[in-house]
Amino acid sequence: MSKSYQPFYVLHGASSSLVIDCRENAASILYWGPRLGQETSPEMLALLKIRQEAKGCTEKDAPIALSPEYGAGFIGNAGIQAHHSGRGWGVFSQIQSIVFVDESNQLVITSSCEASSIEIVHSLAIDPKSGVLTATTKITNLGDTLLDVDQCNAPTIPIPLHCDKILGFEGRWASEFQLRNVDRFIGTYLRENRAGRTSHDTFPGVVIHAEKTNESVGEAFGLHLGWSGNHRIRIEEQSVGRAYAQLGELFYPGELRLAPGESYCSPTLYGAHSDNGFSGLSRCFHSYVRSHLTDLRVAEKSKPVHFNTWEAMYFDLEFGHLCELADKAAEVGVERFVLDDGWFKNRNSDNAALGDWFVDEAVFPNGLTPLIDYVNDAGMEFGLWIEPEMVNPDSDLYRAYPEWILRVPHAPLVMSRNQMVLDLTRDEVQEYLFERLDSLLSDNAIAYLKWDMNRDLNQPGDSEGRAVAHYQTLAVYRLLERIRRAHPKVEIESCSSGGGRADFGILRYTDRIWTSDTNDAIDRLRIQKGFSFFFPPEVMGAHVGPSDCHTTGRTISMATRATVAMFGDMGIEANLLEMPCDEFSELKSAVALHKKHRKLIFSGDLMRLDLPSYESGFGITSEDKKEALFSYALIDSQPHSAPGAFRFDGITRESLYEVNIIWPSTPYYYSEGILDAINGAILSGDALMTVGMQLPIMLPQTMLIFHLKAVE
Ligand code: GLA
Repeated sequence: MSKSYQPFYVLHGASSSLVIDCRENAASILYWGPRLGQETSPEMLALLKIRQEAKGCTEKDAPIALSPEYGAGFIGNAGIQAHHSGRGWGVFSQIQSIVFVDESNQLVITSSCEASSIEIVHSLAIDPKSGVLTATTKITNLGDTLLDVDQCNAPTIPIPLHCDKILGFEGRWASEFQLRNVDRFIGTYLRENRAGRTSHDTFPGVVIHAEKTNESVGEAFGLHLGWSGNHRIRIEEQSVGRAYAQLGELFYPGELRLAPGESYCSPTLYGAHSDNGFSGLSRCFHSYVRSHLTDLRVAEKSKPVHFNTWEAMYFDLEFGHLCELADKAAEVGVERFVLDDGWFKNRNSDNAALGDWFVDEAVFPNGLTPLIDYVNDAGMEFGLWIEPEMVNPDSDLYRAYPEWILRVPHAPLVMSRNQMVLDLTRDEVQEYLFERLDSLLSDNAIAYLKWDMNRDLNQPGDSEGRAVAHYQTLAVYRLLERIRRAHPKVEIESCSSGGGRADFGILRYTDRIWTSDTNDAIDRLRIQKGFSFFFPPEVMGAHVGPSDCHTTGRTISMATRATVAMFGDMGIEANLLEMPCDEFSELKSAVALHKKHRKLIFSGDLMRLDLPSYESGFGITSEDKKEALFSYALIDSQPHSAPGAFRFDGITRESLYEVNIIWPSTPYYYSEGILDAINGAILSGDALMTVGMQLPIMLPQTMLIFHLKAVE
């Protein structure tokens, strides 16, 4: 068969290039990394990559194709694993056509395997500005019998052997996005998530890097699967001397069966390559989120400071009390007042009422309008908490429709937070939820929904006995999309017991992520750091909690709580009526400071700093590097009597900057030193980066914010 396509295709972004090799039966990535110079041709790369037969190995290695194939003799994990009742398992496809779509800088490669009766479409694009790679694999059943799909991973990414460190993300409730380093080894690094949501413990992202890579220098690949359900991350090093990464959805047995003509498309894999360390990777992802995932209606508005009633009132809602809180919130500078859990019929605790989305007349005899009016009159938007996917056994909804839940019918129901999961794949459930949400939003001036989801899908079966976790995730997306279309002005936050549903898939339908249920500022430093690998600050919900943190019991000063919240989408979640006056006025200054600088925080370039574990720090620099904010935290007692220097990074060496410590208003003062001399000083970027600034003596769990402004 004569080939009507080229042997190689090259896609370029501002700083990255992708070369696809189409010389074999199936396409593969020949190169993905820093932008190649004009003098470098794909043929040169192909020549440099010629391998030989190794001892004890096959004559020729089966390629690490976009979907490596069992039919080609691949003994790693095939990208597509599918069969027609046990037949056609050994996929060996042939490229049929390749189309380059100019506007999207995208390559669409269509292949098919006659014996397996499948068509495969790989789409790969490089975003010109951020350099982010987006890639999907779509499979279609060309046969006339059911096709069982066990796996259909996003395109497989070969990893150069020298990038042999893996930085993964693990965690738990109230401790999400924790970094975990492992050395790659011959064999498989595998993280699997069956939580039925993105999960707290296995964020669908990974960084693969060279040994010496740190925050500012060195090579790293970042991969993220934009999917809010079950997933699998695999990094395999083969003994033959190759490695690859593969991310895809994870299915329960028999979950994905395609009827003749039916298709399945993998979630999008988002990838970035950086030669500028981990922070360089994050800047690529942030830029991509800002230009592709952030809805314009949000991008064009300055993100309001929140007040949330949860840790202030829990279920103890009372109209007068709420109004008093609203007054205080407005006084402190809040711009959006969010009524959390507890506002609907019979919801006095987390034991009952999920599913019954009708305003509780015992608390709000005239509906929500009087409170909304009060909040609006105080100059704030109104937001409302909901958890549409869930139902309590003690609810009118469950009493009326017990068959509406997900379960494994022959096994006892597994409960979590006293709640069960509605089967959103049922049309009547979608209709019920849409009607409830639509009428709440139509009848009330609600500007914002905090969309929660508070349990794993332990038994994601439908009433016909099939596993439906995949379809449930799609159904949630559908409902979100429908609500958004019907109420385009309403902003939505993705919450799932904190950060259990944080990924680029849900970000297509939501505008903010509730990062974690802990408002402990010290724990938040680590959580927010992990989060910042993929997400920019403006989607990171970060609240000032009570002084005695409700999740850890740790007592933390207002100055520190406020500093940590200030660098995200700032909010307050504490009882302002009980807050001592000095704390209240400190909080008010912090909110004002956040507002003054939020434009920079929400558009700037992030530079995390490499510091010992008892410290933490980062900077946010404007694109032109003329202005920057740096945050430094002393988390624990430090080993020396006096600290070392704080070395700034990410600014221009040649520029002169005026340096000021802008927070806290009165830093801890021990003895005469740098605090007496630094404010207003004009210093070169060079000196600030190379020598750094001697830190003042600080108490553990305290922080400083520096402001740098370039001067002519
Ligand atoms: C979850 C959320 C919290 C709060 C409660 C309400 O735990 O993460 O922020 O909204 O539910 O029940």
